[in-house]
Order: sequence, then structure tokens, then C-alpha cells
Amino acid sequence: MPTAARLHVAHALHEVFGEGGRVPDIWDRDLGDDAHLAQALLGLCLRRWGRLQAWVKPKLKDPDRGVPLGTRVSLAMGLAQLAWLPGVTDHAAVNESVDLAADRDLGFLPHKGLVNALLRRAAKDRAALAAELEALPPSLDRGPATDRALGAALAPHHAGAELESLWARLQVPPRPDFRLIRGEVPEGLVPIPDLSGCLRLAEGAPFPRLWLESSGGMVQDRSSQALLAYRREAPVTRILDACAAPGGKTTTLALRHPGATITALEVHPRRAARLRQTLQQRGLQVQVIQADAAEWLEVCGASFDLILIDAPCSGSGTLQKHPEWAWLKHDDLPRLTGLQRRLLAAAADRLAPGGLLIYAVCSWLPEEGAAHREWLAQARPDLRPAEVWPAAMGAASDAGDGLTSYFRPHPMSWEGEGFQGFAVVRE
Ligand SMILES: C[S@@+](CC[C@H](N)C(=O)[O-])C[C@H]1O[C@@H](n2cnc3c(N)ncnc32)[C@H](O)[C@@H]1O
Repeated sequence: MPTAARLHVAHALHEVFGEGGRVPDIWDRDLGDDAHLAQALLGLCLRRWGRLQAWVKPKLKDPDRGVPLGTRVSLAMGLAQLAWLPGVTDHAAVNESVDLAADRDLGFLPHKGLVNALLRRAAKDRAALAAELEALPPSLDRGPATDRALGAALAPHHAGAELESLWARLQVPPRPDFRLIRGEVPEGLVPIPDLSGCLRLAEGAPFPRLWLESSGGMVQDRSSQALLAYRREAPVTRILDACAAPGGKTTTLALRHPGATITALEVHPRRAARLRQTLQQRGLQVQVIQADAAEWLEVCGASFDLILIDAPCSGSGTLQKHPEWAWLKHDDLPRLTGLQRRLLAAAADRLAPGGLLIYAVCSWLPEEGAAHREWLAQARPDLRPAEVWPAAMGAASDAGDGLTSYFRPHPMSWEGEGFQGFAVVRE
């Protein structure tokens, strides 16, 4: 029987390659002592899936015949352990993968012998296996959607070589960033310079689970923190967070504007309930409403000094943290861009005079950010760009005189997730 960690990895790979679904957030998994093995193995299989499959194919009797997913998963997991996880014994890497091949739900029993033979042969020279896998082209590990996302990240000027460097950088599993909510910075966390409250795990320090559970802090990527470090002198008393769950940015807004009245919207009932609970645990006074933000804004009759739309998006900027992104279909982009525009139009109508609207997505794709910005400039002459971020956080061409209204940190020099956002104020 394979260990819980390996079963978790196999289930996750079936979810991605069988169902086209996403892997749950790896930082939240509770897999006991084997959590590190599960994270490392899942990351390796997802990040090197194309090369692992390409290595297997010529060794099959009939390479052009389809191979069941259960076999591909068992082989990929076994090979990844043999090639890149030296702490795993030959015995564990081979036998547990053979057991997986024999599993009724996760394997394909008729291929148990094939999995056994291929892995035993590979285990005879693990260094040679690693070298053969590394020699295959890294581009096998991504599809056209990823090439497009990388190109968009580096636009407008990029050469092929830079795209490969960015891809290589995104293959390194990220370390999580944290945001201090209250109290002292716990041991093992180090402040990030120039970003107040932003912390990073020191090399080798344990994951600060107890501190997170006590609401002393939260996991929050540094891009989100930099986005919410906008400059704003004008008083902010009424805030709307239009797409709020799981509540990271709502929390940061509440910390930044302690006297303000905050309304947080979330369309999905379960996520809204969870959001309410999280904010209560953190001791924050926020009104949570479960609603479609565009519909709610159209009828709410209120106006706001600050509206944040942290819109649902393709998530292309989260490729480093979610390596399965490279293998997903991404066929709902038209629906997402339509929703993003609907949210923007509805929010623009609810800005108080002088009010600030911040729109953001964790995506590099121009149609999810830059294109909306241009559309809004045409459609809403009553809104003007608000330069609220340091120019260094913007796309170089838009830097202006020290501040920018277009947030798009450069993917080669910025360690946070890929993000783009813009800010406008109402005249
Ligand atoms: C990018 S996430 C927001 C992350 C959040 N701001 C944070 O920092 O923790 C987008 C959220 O918007 C929600 N959402 C999607 N469509 C929505 C809509 N029409 N109205 C309100 N919320 C929506 C999603 O369920 C998801 O929870």
C-alpha cells in the first residue's frame, strides 16, 4: 500500500491530467511527516511531466498506442523519485510505484509488470537517468498557453532566450511570503525590505503553522502586498472589496484603514461563509455579503472612497506556485474577461467623487489587464489614471515621474507572483 503522501500525489496528478482540475494549495496540506516528500514529488511531476512522458515513450513496445493515465502517473512518480530525490531509496521509489500501478482506482493493473521492469532498469543508474531527463528540451514541459503567458509577461521587448530564462526561474518552487497581522514577528521569519509587514521564511525555518492559526499573520504573496501599498493621502472611510474570498486583501485593507467601514463581497456561498469566519477570527469588523458583485453594485445605491476589484482571472501569473497551470485547458478566458469588464463598469458607477478604484489580476495576459485599462480610458472620461505605486513596480514604459498608475512588476527582477493592476480616480 503506497504511503499517504504518494497517494496524495497520485490523486493530484489524476485530477490535473484526468479531470483538467487544479491541485489544492500546497502550503495548506497536512500530510504529517511526509508533507515535504509530497510537495517535492508533486512539484517535480508537474514541472517535468512532458520530459518524463517523452523519456518513457520510446521504451514502450508500441509507442504510438495510448498509455492509460494510471500507468503514466505511476511511471512519472517512480522516475521522478529515482532521478531527483536522492533521499528516497530505490526500493521505495520502485515498489511504491508498482503498488500504485496495481491500485484499482489510481493504476492500471495489466501494466504492473511494465512499470516494474522500466523502474528497475532505471534504478540501476540513477545519475544517468537524471542526465537523460535533463537533456530533453525543457519546452516539452509546457504548452502553447504557457508560451503565450510567458511572452505576455516579458512584453513588449523579449527575445527567445529571455523566455527560457523566465521559464527556468518559474520552475523553482517558490517560498511563501507572509503578512504580519498583529504582535511580534515570530522567529524564523525575516522582514522584506521596503514592504512594511511583509515577511519571508528564513532558509531552513519551519513553516509557522501555530502563528498562522493564532491569526498573528497570514500567507500573502508579496505582489498582493505591494499592490496594497498604494499611496493615498485623501481620507478613506467607505471601502468596497468586490471579490474578497479568501480575505487576504480584505485583511490588509482593514489594517491599512482601521477607521473605515468595509464591505466585502463574494459570490460563492461556501467561500463567503469561510471569509466571514476568517475575518471574525482575525478580529476585523467587515460586513460580508454573499452576492455577484456586478449585480450588487448595480442596485446597492451606495458610493465608496475606495473600491478594490481583485478579479477572478486565468491565474497565469501563478505559474510558479501552481505548476499545473501549464497543463490546464484555459478555455474560459472569454467568460473571465467579460466578467472582469462587467465588474469594472459596475464599480466605476459606484465611486464617490475623488474615489479610488484599484483593479488587479494575478495574470500577465494583456486582455485581462492592459486592455481593460485602455477600454476604461475610452469609455469613462470621468475617470483619470491615479499614480499610486512607485515607478519601479510598473511596466518600464509607463514609469512617469516616480509613480505609476499601472502596476506590473517585471517578472525577471521581482520575486512575487505575476500581477498587473491599474488605478483610476473619479473626477
Ligand atoms: C482572485 S480571488 C480574490 C482573492 C482575494 N481578494 C484575496 O486577496 O484573498 C477572486 C474571488 O472572486 C470571487 N468571485 C468570482 N466572481 C465573482 C463575482 N461575480 N462577484 C463577487 N465575487 C466573485 C471568486 O469566488 C474568488 O473568491
